[in-house]
Amino acid sequence: MSRRTRVALVSGVALAIGLTLITAIAVIGPDRGLEGRARERELAAEFYQMRCAACHELEGGIGSPLPPRVLASYGTAQLLFNYVRLAMPYEAPRTLSNEEYWLTVGHLLRSRGLVVEDAVVNQETAEGIKLDGSAS
Ligand code: HEC
Repeated sequence: MSRRTRVALVSGVALAIGLTLITAIAVIGPDRGLEGRARERELAAEFYQMRCAACHELEGGIGSPLPPRVLASYGTAQLLFNYVRLAMPYEAPRTLSNEEYWLTVGHLLRSRGLVVEDAVVNQETAEGIKLDGSAS
């Protein structure tokens, strides 16, 4: 397989995964039952893997690993969201939808134990989510 074919194949697969996630995000819609919320957490984790993890989770990535202490320094989920939306993904800031930014912020807070597993992290709740290191 030529290099060009490989690159095309890899971009094709990435695009397909992206489109599937976007469709899934749209399908979940505003009305989320328990099952919807569980699915949303899965999506958030996948989305984070796709758009953030290459820099933040990998050894040698150009971003820091984002430990709880660093995230907590933003004070509230809203302020963390504001930063992430303005500045990330580093190579293409402000290119995700608000929904996608909420998903990644929710995933970050859950995976670092800064909120409980089934916490709802969105524009209605974020102001009230204080990041003091205790899961609430
Ligand atoms: C191309 C690499 C790259 C990608 C992709 C990326 N980041 Fe970053 N991220 C960085 C770098 C580099 C910094 C440090 C930026 C600075 O200090 O100006 C950073 C900083 C951050 C910070 C602040 C850390 C601190 O010390 O305060 C957060 C939070 C963050 N990124 C979250 C995300 C999220 C969420 C995503 C996915 C939507 C993402 N990043 C995607 C490279 C990346």
